[in-house]
Amino acid sequence: MDNRPIGVFDSGLGGLTAVKALRRLLPGEDLIYFGDTARVPYGGRSRETLLKYARQDIAFLRSFDLKAVLIACGTVTSTSLDTLRKENDLPVLGVVEPSCREALAVTKNKKIGMIATLASARSGAYERTLKGLDADVQVVSQPCPLFVPLVENGRFRQGDVVIETVAREYLTPLIEAGVDTLILGCTHYPLLKDIIGEICGPGVTLIDSGAASARALRQQLAAEGRLTDRQQGETRFYVSDRPEDFEKLAAVFLEEPLSRGAERIDIE
Ligand code: SIN
Repeated sequence: MDNRPIGVFDSGLGGLTAVKALRRLLPGEDLIYFGDTARVPYGGRSRETLLKYARQDIAFLRSFDLKAVLIACGTVTSTSLDTLRKENDLPVLGVVEPSCREALAVTKNKKIGMIATLASARSGAYERTLKGLDADVQVVSQPCPLFVPLVENGRFRQGDVVIETVAREYLTPLIEAGVDTLILGCTHYPLLKDIIGEICGPGVTLIDSGAASARALRQQLAAEGRLTDRQQGETRFYVSDRPEDFEKLAAVFLEEPLSRGAERIDIE
């Protein structure tokens, strides 16, 4: 048993998809969330810049005594997970492998689509992981650089013509390629699940990378006997800019007001 909190971070709102799943799966755990709202989006940055940001994000989270860190960001996981694991003496989990495992468990035709940021797509991390787990799988990747800025601006609701038009353009090649499973390889994208699901149709199973990583974390903590024995945990939110904007959108997405406000910290 381990009652220390779990640290979770992302470039902004996207990691809340993991927080939402963790609160449902592990309601007793304390969570410390950091969203780097001053520097979002991460998706077009170089590996060097991403590593610098991720090191600062983890250093802030580790100012709390944590039992694990969840990188709830597809871009940081894809480009920097191995390095960050080597540098930290506590479990550091990412979103890539859990999503790939869930995708392989559901695909029937072994044609898996993967949408993510430019940096994640360039890294090839999802393809490598999928093929490493099953050499016969066919992977069709599509970077979607406009999704994160639109989501961060609150444009994730069905009926929003701008996001629906952009989504249709990104998703059409994947539908034409006949994928039956689609990894939402950036944690912002599950906020677009309804829109993506409607465009892809019922024949395509969507894999939520935030929720998949939350399930993997629960499994690891349970296997190590390090789940909390508390019944009710709390979540504290920190951001690097404009906490009031974050709070508004976070409450919409989490479907409840934040129990305490988000606090701004200087991440540099
Ligand atoms: C971004 O900030 O561009 C996206 C973060 C992610 O890949 O999950």
